[in-house]
Amino acid sequence: MLTSIQIETFEKNGYLVIEDFIDQRQRNLLMQRAEELIDEFQPPSKHSVFSTDEQERTSDDYFLNSGDKIRFFFEEKAIDKNGSFTVPKQKSINKIGHAQHILDPVYKEVINELNFPKLGKQLGIKTPRALQSMHIFKQPSIGGEVGLHQDSCFLYTKPMSCIGFWFALEDANEENGCLQAMTGGHKIPLKKRFHLSENGGTEFDLLDDSPWPEKPLDMLEVKAGTLIILHGQLPHYSAANKSTKSRQAFSLHLVDQECHYAEDNWLQSDL
Ligand code: FE2
Repeated sequence: MLTSIQIETFEKNGYLVIEDFIDQRQRNLLMQRAEELIDEFQPPSKHSVFSTDEQERTSDDYFLNSGDKIRFFFEEKAIDKNGSFTVPKQKSINKIGHAQHILDPVYKEVINELNFPKLGKQLGIKTPRALQSMHIFKQPSIGGEVGLHQDSCFLYTKPMSCIGFWFALEDANEENGCLQAMTGGHKIPLKKRFHLSENGGTEFDLLDDSPWPEKPLDMLEVKAGTLIILHGQLPHYSAANKSTKSRQAFSLHLVDQECHYAEDNWLQSDL
């Protein structure tokens, strides 16, 4: 249960940091399961790279149809211009997504134990729907940057209701690309929307063309096990991993089923 001070902090800053939220056993279960899934994964002949700058997010069918599946996306730097891997398979994956919290027994058990819907309800979501699991690896040396963005841009409801639950499976710091957030920035309007376009593929709609405020981002360095809850309009960012170790994290998003889920959101799922 969140305290009233934690709820106030979330409302004021647009995010909330909770240390020791997920224990070592749960973290190990997720990291070991990811390793098994990657071992079993047979890379397709055409590689789907997850461009870590979300503005250049790939719009291929492998990505767009992954909302109700468990799929594997490569780091951009894991594949050279000839299509050959530059690193071993276990070190090549940018993320696994986007429905393992429903489809995979291990992820499902751990995510259910953590009871995010209960937290979501305390933060104003009436009927939580969990979607978009992401096991993020930030691989050693090649883990890419994720540009400044607001999550509601990608998971749009009317009215907006998205809340992100990001937790560190390994320590996250400035060197390995921890989250950075614009404290209080959730009060600025949604800048743009990423959605399916009528002609196939995806596009961005510009909703507000004012520049991002000239405000430094706050570095959210956290220990493994820490949960960071992110308001859907909070601008956040993470730099490339310059260290020699991975910076694994898991994130799950909730939206309110009582709000209208856009038919043209990229993520569509019947699960
Ligand atoms: Fe995000």
